[in-house]
Amino acid sequence: AKPLKIGIAGLGTVGGGVLQILRRNADLLEARCGRPVVVTAVSARSRGKDRGADLSGLRWYDDAAALADDPEVDVVCELIGGSDGVAKTLVETALANGRHVVTANKALLARHGTALALAAESRGLTLAYEAAVAGGIPVIKGLREGLAANRVREVHGILNGTCNYILTEMRTTGRDFAAVLADAQRLGYAEADPGFDIDGVDAAHKLAILTAVAFGCQVDFDSVHVEGIRHISSLDIQYADELGYRIRLLAIGRRTERGIEQRVHPCMVPVGSPIGATDGVFNAVVADGDFVDKVVLVGRGAGAGPTASAVVADILDIAQGRRTPTFGVPAERLTPLPVSPIDSR
Ligand code: HSE
Repeated sequence: AKPLKIGIAGLGTVGGGVLQILRRNADLLEARCGRPVVVTAVSARSRGKDRGADLSGLRWYDDAAALADDPEVDVVCELIGGSDGVAKTLVETALANGRHVVTANKALLARHGTALALAAESRGLTLAYEAAVAGGIPVIKGLREGLAANRVREVHGILNGTCNYILTEMRTTGRDFAAVLADAQRLGYAEADPGFDIDGVDAAHKLAILTAVAFGCQVDFDSVHVEGIRHISSLDIQYADELGYRIRLLAIGRRTERGIEQRVHPCMVPVGSPIGATDGVFNAVVADGDFVDKVVLVGRGAGAGPTASAVVADILDIAQGRRTPTFGVPAERLTPLPVSPIDSR
């Protein structure tokens, strides 16, 4: 069968992980989708860097957008990051050129998700982004396909692995914020700008995407109320502990009488609850549907392996010709988000 040809833009933590999976599990992936999946081209900033993978035989582009013009690329994998600039140009060009796109870029989708979904769907292309939300947990497919029969009442959870790792380590080791953050960076969990993690912006990006899928609305990042964890002290964590609570950075999207509310802020949750029991880099998402009731998904929310696992699952969907509207409802029928005002506190 005809191989599916992949071009990878960005060979950082996630890009390296994708290369590894595609190589190490090549036989398994081919058996699953009935055709080989091969990387033909890559693009990254520095050629010299050792990425622990043999890149010989792959076409190399210094300019990421050139990947979208390569006739030997069927799927562009955008793993550069950033809501504008190179990543946006690459995705737009790829779609304009008739290439499917797989991305892990939550900032891009939070800002331009609706427009990009329209661009993809109007051309019969897939824009897939499972890796953008909650790392290795299939939360997009879970909500969009698995809970498709339900009117979702609420979706909430831990969507930033770095923050959960920091809050967990502060509690269990007593180390301070800065030291633990440095660990998270070393382990490849944190964003290029870790301010996005600890100030709640990354969780807000992911929530805006999740809200669109859960409620069939256009992506509306600007209406998310955002507050991070910078001001949480070891003492706060200790007091919460004594009362039987954990402090978590929660992202909440919920239908209210006045519209849909989106908020990210630290919360105290009972130790024994699914969210309270989710420690470390793990994420947890609780979705509440009118017929299914509550569904909980837990797994690793960051890191090379888990995030790359989600990217490759999206590639397999394309290889098998599975098509789903980007956000569950055809992009042209997504309604503006009926925003519920959140009282400032
Ligand atoms: N910095 C993100 C996190 C990476 O810590 O969750 C995964 O999106």
